[in-house]
Amino acid sequence: MFDAKELRRVMGLFATGVTVITTRDGSGRLYGLTANAVTSLSLAPPLLLICVDKKAESHPHFLDSKCFIVNILSEHQEELSTRFAKSGGDKFTGVAYQLGRLGTPVLDGTLGHVECRIVETHEGGDHVIHIGAVEHAEFRGGAPLIFFQGKYRQVKAE
Ligand SMILES: Cc1cc2nc3c(=O)[nH]c(=O)nc-3n(C[C@H](O)[C@H](O)[C@H](O)COP(=O)(O)O)c2cc1C
Repeated sequence: MFDAKELRRVMGLFATGVTVITTRDGSGRLYGLTANAVTSLSLAPPLLLICVDKKAESHPHFLDSKCFIVNILSEHQEELSTRFAKSGGDKFTGVAYQLGRLGTPVLDGTLGHVECRIVETHEGGDHVIHIGAVEHAEFRGGAPLIFFQGKYRQVKAE
């Protein structure tokens, strides 16, 4: 037996990195959300998997644009993570970024980013699972922001 709270507590033991996944709509308006349900799915062909809450404001825009960028946050970007974990407003005001190859924001100061075109979308309960074909990836490196037991943590990279 378990309840939803217990499941959250257990899965909170699974330490993850933190990303901001960005996308856009047809008119070029930008969207982004903090996400840790991100997986490197396949190397040949190169595929990433992301899970997006159907209630997220950015959800319909992934379906429209059919693209996303996974921006991997550094230990110095907790504030950015908090900002993108809230719905509403223009989250990009005062945030340094450039547009990537697919017209979607690449945030400054991250450890790296991966640009994807969505090739499959599956239902996953209250989330959708997007599978993205990797179009471009860039490594910068550094120490990551970690999410563990509901809190941000830091770990020193070698
Ligand atoms: C550490 C962390 C990880 C998160 N991971 C996800 C995730 O993988 N998928 C998701 O849909 N929401 C995730 N969220 C919640 C979204 O960031 C939050 O619902 C956000 O407000 C959605 O933004 P939007 O409504 O503007 O799209 C996470 C939040 C935090 C703090």
